[in-house]
Amino acid sequence: MHDALPAVDASAIDLSATFLGRELRLPLLISGMTGGHERARGVNQVLASAAERSGVAFGLGSQRAALRDRSLIPTYTIARDSAPTSFIIANVGISQLVPQDGETALSLADVREIIDMVRADALAVHLNYLEESVQPEGQTRAAGAFEALTRICGASPVPVVAKETGAGITREVAQRLRIAGIRAIDVGGLGGTSFAALEARRADMRGDEARTRLGVRFTEWGVPTAVAVAGCVVTGLPVIATGGVRSGLDAAKALALGASIVGVARPLLRAALEGEAAVLAWIDRFALELRTATFLSGQRRARDLHKAERVVTGRTHDWLVQLRY
Ligand SMILES: Cc1cc2nc3c(=O)[nH]c(=O)nc-3n(C[C@H](O)[C@H](O)[C@H](O)COP(=O)(O)O)c2cc1C
Repeated sequence: MHDALPAVDASAIDLSATFLGRELRLPLLISGMTGGHERARGVNQVLASAAERSGVAFGLGSQRAALRDRSLIPTYTIARDSAPTSFIIANVGISQLVPQDGETALSLADVREIIDMVRADALAVHLNYLEESVQPEGQTRAAGAFEALTRICGASPVPVVAKETGAGITREVAQRLRIAGIRAIDVGGLGGTSFAALEARRADMRGDEARTRLGVRFTEWGVPTAVAVAGCVVTGLPVIATGGVRSGLDAAKALALGASIVGVARPLLRAALEGEAAVLAWIDRFALELRTATFLSGQRRARDLHKAERVVTGRTHDWLVQLRY
């Protein structure tokens, strides 16, 4: 809600955040996207270097490729080289932790290697069964996933984050994840990049009509980001709001719903393809918008936005009422 009489100067607003025990200058994570091919090396270098300069966290894309082909390791390690002091999140898929047809599950030693490869501060396990369901070669064996996750959480030297990639996490799933030992939730909700739509496009290019239709049919499947945030914060775990966050104002809304930080993927990939200056300009805009929203909400610190009065309207309100969040 708007505060017509703020008590502090806009320039004195504190935008910092604490995430898993570490201070960030802004409540922002450059969400995991890439690694595993030559072009990805440049993108990871630009994004990680911008993360280091601006004091935000940085996530890598799935590191499975580096375990299969060791010549690809530098496309990931470039991130740590470019961001020696940043909070870096390693990345592996839940499907790799469960035996699939014709593929064994990664061992605890493999997972450890993924973490050590980039001296990661946390490990994200991405939950992407929607994408896997639409891919023809998709890995949809999920029985035993909870147990595998529990084992990883018990053995990991760094905190493990559960991360959806566009279909969202409900309160009920977040509670199960907490029991498994997960230390933070990246809600990866509906409303941003759609892997169902992306896989439908790829299927169409291959001339695979059945998978094209399946992807299109499930483009709107999932829990919207705002709803997922409201549900997951109930667990008491730190929550990353990802999925369609496009501005500092979106971030302010997510923080008002209780998120600790926000994750942004696609807009920062676009900027990274232009170069580091474009990424830093995007982050500057984000910071100014978040500062403005915090100031106009009458708060001194962005991390206090959850204390601000708020109104939830429209479809989001319908979801929250029906789910009793
Ligand atoms: C090109 C691209 C590649 C991605 N690769 C991964 C990945 O390897 N692992 C992962 O956990 N998430 C991956 N994601 C998902 C993002 O981390 C994020 O959850 C999702 O894109 C939603 O954020 P957005 O709406 O800001 O793009 C990828 C996203 C994009 C756009």
